[in-house]
Amino acid sequence: MCGIVGYVGMRNSQEVLIEGLKKLEYRGYDSAGVAVFTPNGLEVKKSVGRLANLEEKLNERPLVGTIGIGHTRWATHGKPSDVNSHPHTDNSVKFSVVHNGIIENYLELKEELIAKGYRFVSETDTEVIAHLVADAYEGDIVRAVQKAVKRMRGAYALGVLTEHEPDRLVAVRLASPLIIGVGEGENFIGSDIPAILNYTRNVYILNDGEMAVLTRDGVELMTIEGNFISRETFTVDWDIATAEKAGFDHFMLKEIHEQPKAYRDTMGSRLSPDGSRVVLKELTMTEQQIRDIRNVHIVACGTAYHAGLIGKTVIEQLARIPVETDVASEYRYRSPIITPNTLVIVVSQSGETADTLAALREAKRCGAHVLAITNVVGSSVAREADDVLFTWAGPEIAVASTKAYTTQLVAFYLFGLHLAQVLGTKDEAFIRDMIAAMKSLPEQVEAILGQSEAIKAAAEDMSKHDDLFFIGRGVDYAVSLEGSLKLKEISYIHSEAYAAGELKHGTLALIEENVPVIALATQEDLLEKTVSNIKEVTARGGKVLGITSERYAQELAKSVNTVFTIPQTHALLTPALAVIPLQLLAYYASLARGNDVDKPRNLAKSVTVE
Ligand code: F6R
Repeated sequence: MCGIVGYVGMRNSQEVLIEGLKKLEYRGYDSAGVAVFTPNGLEVKKSVGRLANLEEKLNERPLVGTIGIGHTRWATHGKPSDVNSHPHTDNSVKFSVVHNGIIENYLELKEELIAKGYRFVSETDTEVIAHLVADAYEGDIVRAVQKAVKRMRGAYALGVLTEHEPDRLVAVRLASPLIIGVGEGENFIGSDIPAILNYTRNVYILNDGEMAVLTRDGVELMTIEGNFISRETFTVDWDIATAEKAGFDHFMLKEIHEQPKAYRDTMGSRLSPDGSRVVLKELTMTEQQIRDIRNVHIVACGTAYHAGLIGKTVIEQLARIPVETDVASEYRYRSPIITPNTLVIVVSQSGETADTLAALREAKRCGAHVLAITNVVGSSVAREADDVLFTWAGPEIAVASTKAYTTQLVAFYLFGLHLAQVLGTKDEAFIRDMIAAMKSLPEQVEAILGQSEAIKAAAEDMSKHDDLFFIGRGVDYAVSLEGSLKLKEISYIHSEAYAAGELKHGTLALIEENVPVIALATQEDLLEKTVSNIKEVTARGGKVLGITSERYAQELAKSVNTVFTIPQTHALLTPALAVIPLQLLAYYASLARGNDVDKPRNLAKSVTVE
């Protein structure tokens, strides 16, 4: 978590840092700070709260200089406060550090440094790094950083400056993302590419255990042991406007509306022109490897985990291979049975989620083949997996994931069909029909988006309640879990999702007059059963909003208070449509409650701590 930026060049560094931090605020936003070399030496300004607070301070008294580092924080060690904000400095204020990650042995290092006479002012783990570097310094900042990081255990992306060598910025990466932007007469560091995209499109992506030394005139890459590395820069071809709001009030709304395009881009050239086959040229996995798969583990966190639950049904239905889906933070600790014939699929929008990455590493250690489904080219997950299926959703900025989730579903549909083609578990006609249905998804999503006003009205009504429930069976249950998470995280309304048949085993006790229940009933074979569960709710006064496919709308209307209809599609594809009204419900409920939709409290976009 947290976002870091750094600049060396000729521009006013304060402006470059603030611009960069604005693009990284999604990584954490409980405080922010910058350190700049000014004519008075190394000066630091930081402020608790949103970046705007820091900007206000800097407007009152700007820091003038052309080299600096900046940070936007998501608190791990120590509460959000001015003093716990980064950058941190040593006692002489000659060394300054920004850090993303966690130093696991910081207490032990802190005691050692205190014994040597260093004074600590914050509760953070990062402050030890500033003192460690100062302690190791013998005239060469690169050597000092190398010595310091050898003492540290944990995860870090660092930017380090010292007043003793005011033309150099040192950056290090171990298990937290860090990129280097290469300009002309100026160079940059950032936790993510959007931070530097206004200035350059040429980047190096640092690998774990690597560092970079930046001056105005160049960038030297080396390992933390000091061995020089030669590497080509990577050219970013995204459009800057893609990472901006493009006229929408919030990134989340923009990203919801981008889903038709994201579907088209993710399917793209992966469907044969005659619509008869899925073609996944990027996979290295051979047909024999696929035939050898005995079981599949899908591992992910949060929304990506919910996509994995749909992935389980898709793979089991299409390829008849047993699948287990696990929350990444639990996976390693349950001693999963992984063999060389296990395919492990890790799903991660950012490709940097610490638990998912740890699960990937554990799976590889046990000999499994690992396939990653991710949205970020160059991310750790993408680089470490044996195979990658990218979701071409474009940058997702809102903390609440929308288009990343739906394109993860598309990736599972593509992969499931690919398995079915190789294993012969589905005939040509089935595959052709499913591909035709997939091709219609973008227009069908557009049709749902066209009904946003009706959803908005329902959301405004819902926003007056403090508790609500989602129910569904089969894939509808998995979509309910995602709808409930979305609502909780941005509207702060308490909600729970239940397998519809499970409600009467306890939770029905919470249903009373006017309690809102959102019931998903898109599956023909489960419709009658779900309707029975809806009746159990309405009989106790619950107010039900039903979501179903066109064909069953009339039937469902007899049992619920309001029906919302999605276009008819293949049974396995309904999640890719049914989740859209749920995303809109969450969005409008959050708006009605006056919340900060794109930056919900306590959360961050990229969770790089375990
Ligand atoms: C919720 C949300 C999170 C993420 C989770 C995993 O809207 O976005 O639950 O899905 O933190 O993140 P990634 O996919 O980046 O691994």
